Amino acid sequence: MNKIPVITIDGPSGSGKGTVATLTAKDLGFRLLDSGALYRSLAVSAIKREVNLEDHRQLADLARCLNIEFGSGSVWLDGEDVSLEIRTDIVSKAASLLGTIPAVRTALHEQQLAFRKEPGLVADGRDMGTVVFPDALVKIYLTARLEERVQRRYKQLIDKGIDATLPHLLRDLKERDAKDSERPISPLKPAKDAVVLDTTDLQVDQVVQLVMSIVRDRLAS
Ligand code: DC
Repeated sequence: MNKIPVITIDGPSGSGKGTVATLTAKDLGFRLLDSGALYRSLAVSAIKREVNLEDHRQLADLARCLNIEFGSGSVWLDGEDVSLEIRTDIVSKAASLLGTIPAVRTALHEQQLAFRKEPGLVADGRDMGTVVFPDALVKIYLTARLEERVQRRYKQLIDKGIDATLPHLLRDLKERDAKDSERPISPLKPAKDAVVLDTTDLQVDQVVQLVMSIVRDRLAS
């Protein structure tokens, strides 16, 4: 049994899981795994190498030797800072498509497990609590109304200097929600033992406080 504590934070796009996971990891002094960034970086790598997104074997090979590093809020792929590139529209769509390929998920599974190191890990994504870390100490599932998630994603992109429009984002998020939830393998859904939090009317710091109180209770028991 692995005794290193893991906190999983899953949920759809714009639910706030990335920001909440980052702040929770900081508060706890734990490592952070942004699993979506792995899928997104694989998409960037595949697009750059002109790999056909229908060639599942080549994509799985690429996933197995993905050379990715996280550091000070940035994501590095093959030594190049791809933090902005991984957030673009085309990469978001490709990442969602890659998430439907079983061979890709298997290849990325091992890489995700390797993030579990002392003193602990906060992992955010779609299947952290259901598939990758089923023995997590605390499982959180964040949701929010679609319109609120669209607004949050819009602000995030504009703040990063990436072009976006609300109608486009609404359509994209609906499409991605459907693809992520309806895929047969590791679909987006709360784990049976997850605490589900609707963040529509909550500020980020309120959500982090809630998550931290759940984690502290669990660490103390
Ligand atoms: O969390 P995100 O929006 O950065 O993730 C981008 C895409 O990657 C998402 O639409 C589906 C895929 N993904 C996944 O299939 N499983 C995960 N654990 C994380 C992301």
